[in-house]
Amino acid sequence: MSEPLVLVSNRGPVTFDDDGSFTRGGGGLVTALTGLASHREVVWIASAMSDGDKRRADEAEGRPFEVESDAGNDYRVRLVTSDPDAYDRFYNVISNPMLWFIQHYLWDLSNAPDVTRHETEAFEEGYKVVNDDLARAAIEQIDGQDEPVVMVHDYHLYTLPGVIREARPDVFLHHFIHIPWTQPDAWRVLPRSIRDEIYAGVLANDIVGFHTRSYRWNFLQCCRDLLDLEVDFERGIVHHDGREVWVRAYPLPIDYENTRRIAASERTAEFEAELKRRRRDHVILRVDRADLSKNVLRGFAAFDEFLQGHPEFLEKVTFIAQLMPSRLDVVQYQDYLRRIERRVAEINHRHGTPDWMPIQLKLRDDLEEAVASYKNYDVMIVNAMFDGMNLVAKEGPVVNEVDGVSILSENTGAHEELGEYALSVNPFDIRETADSIHAALTMSADERARRARGLKEVVTARDPGDWIDEQLADIREKRTAAGAAR
Ligand code: F6P
Repeated sequence: MSEPLVLVSNRGPVTFDDDGSFTRGGGGLVTALTGLASHREVVWIASAMSDGDKRRADEAEGRPFEVESDAGNDYRVRLVTSDPDAYDRFYNVISNPMLWFIQHYLWDLSNAPDVTRHETEAFEEGYKVVNDDLARAAIEQIDGQDEPVVMVHDYHLYTLPGVIREARPDVFLHHFIHIPWTQPDAWRVLPRSIRDEIYAGVLANDIVGFHTRSYRWNFLQCCRDLLDLEVDFERGIVHHDGREVWVRAYPLPIDYENTRRIAASERTAEFEAELKRRRRDHVILRVDRADLSKNVLRGFAAFDEFLQGHPEFLEKVTFIAQLMPSRLDVVQYQDYLRRIERRVAEINHRHGTPDWMPIQLKLRDDLEEAVASYKNYDVMIVNAMFDGMNLVAKEGPVVNEVDGVSILSENTGAHEELGEYALSVNPFDIRETADSIHAALTMSADERARRARGLKEVVTARDPGDWIDEQLADIREKRTAAGAAR
């Protein structure tokens, strides 16, 4: 496909500081799309999230501008500034926590959420307003194009496709959702009117993509059970409003060449030297955003139980937990970070000695520091309660140099691909996780090598270019099918 593509997501590829410098945007979505944006003719429309973003958007007078990153990737970015109050409601009330919690089964339903005017107004006057703002920018961007394609990303933008479709019935809309799609009852938390608007928006797309077959299946089930639509489960088609919506699974690969480049960098080597200087016999690692879905507390509880059950490992093992603080305007995330710090202090107090701290907590987002740990872990814990894909589960094994063992939650998207070579755990089962830590640390060298080889093979079999190509091939196929039917 040679036409220029338009991408739309809430978080853009870079975040501007006040002085005009910028850093790479965080999270799996940005990792997935940067390759596409720098290799094809793409305009990436995103929200202006920081004050620096807003200043840059003003300077560009709302038009796309070039961004050149350190890694040599050039992007054309168009930043859209929304009303601050609307944006706050969009991001901090509806997207996180409301939708995020529904899509990770995080609500503790006897206690929360209360859906009051605060939430319903936040949907009308926040979520939909920001979706409208980004939709307007996309509509302007495709103005004059013959067969425009707009690729929409994630749970922030469920009402946007309907707005674009109304203005441009000829547009091809492809929406990839980076987080799980939960089963029908989880969606019953939302008032019917909001739920219907969300589903109408998503079904305005031509293709809806997910990381796994099971999310795809859940989505189809929701369309049947919540909306009473005609659904073809085998072919993955929802019939809606006289149109066919294709529902597909495209598991996201990592850019493993890039991860290897970072592993070979000088800055990574500096972190590695420090890690090796301080390390004990064994290193256990976790790297995550400090998000409730990541299940950090149960991971520490399992480590605590492991140390209690196996005192022979006291002073011989360090658990490095690198957690990036995230979404700190949301009260649940603030509380979670406090609970993490408290739990670490308790465990370090219980087991630590004057010169041994069992858990080393690093509350910062530093890619090279994380990659230095990736290279050296004996055990990596990815025990998310539910997780769309989890790219850490792929990044770690690709650069690990000591045949590290992966402990992997069976509720991550990555588990569909990597489960065979990992130690699978039920993330709620602390005992099983503790036993898996022990099994990993006492595993024979041959078995560690066999599993590490398997993980590397799976992870390097595809890259994000393949992921995009699969989606573009489906876009072409659906367009051809629609053309033939006319
Ligand atoms: O990749 C999953 C994801 O939730 C993205 O949608 C999101 O951009 C990223 O993680 C990080 O979250 P946030 O943009 O809220 O910091």
